[in-house]
Amino acid sequence: MKKAKYFKHKTALVEPRASIGEGSRLWAFTNIQAGAVIGCGCNICDGSFVEKGAVVGNNVTIKHHVAVFDGVTIEDDVFVGSNAAFINDRYPRSHRKDPWVLEKTIVQKGATIGSNAVILCGVTIGEYAVVGAGSVVTKDVPSFAVVCGNPAARRGYACRCGRKLDENLKCSCGCRYTKDELCIRFSSAPLPTTKTLS
Ligand SMILES: CC(C)(COP(=O)(O)OP(=O)(O)OC[C@H]1O[C@@H](n2cnc3c(N)ncnc32)[C@H](O)[C@@H]1OP(=O)(O)O)[C@@H](O)C(=O)NCCC(=O)NCCS
Ligand SMILES: [Zn+2]
Repeated sequence: MKKAKYFKHKTALVEPRASIGEGSRLWAFTNIQAGAVIGCGCNICDGSFVEKGAVVGNNVTIKHHVAVFDGVTIEDDVFVGSNAAFINDRYPRSHRKDPWVLEKTIVQKGATIGSNAVILCGVTIGEYAVVGAGSVVTKDVPSFAVVCGNPAARRGYACRCGRKLDENLKCSCGCRYTKDELCIRFSSAPLPTTKTLS
């Protein structure tokens, strides 16, 4: 099979059994494990880590120092700000050897996660939603919602372009939405699956 052409900085660690799509760029000190999947045209910035089992779609931007763990799926066109933290074990203990529950997290197409946000496991962030910088997301975020704070709560709705909609669901870019459109695709996160620590 023909290998996809992508850019890898000389300090990037990319396991041969990681799958990287055409045109993606992996910057300094990125670490991509065997079994990780990254689509085409992505930009993975300095110091970020993509674990086996994590899935990153096409045209995704992952800024500096973000760890995308097993169980996290990031769909196409998502933006993840610097130092955002994904959680994949709700009750971690360093000394525990019994099975733990991997709760899956999905970030749907076109969503934005602000810098330093914390995304608890088992949540779905809906299409084109915006998570404010430094927010702590503890529950599912509906499509197009703008959420902020700790715990993150809805502050309004976002346009596909990223700006906030006004009270008439209009954006300064000219787009207008109806309430129905803002609920286009949103389903609850899938049930958690059980994993055993080796
Ligand atoms: C969430 C966000 C999009 C909101 O932008 P906005 O609509 O212009 O927001 P405003 O500045 O009008 O603030 C609206 C309210 O939300 C609050 N707010 C805004 N961002 C917040 C945040 N990240 N956390 C908590 N509260 C926030 C404001 O204090 C304000 O509160 P008030 O109504 O009580 O006064 C923006 O603040 C943000 O966090 N963007 C993420 C940027 C980022 O991380 N970029 C990464 C690449 S560098
Ligand atoms: Zn807009």
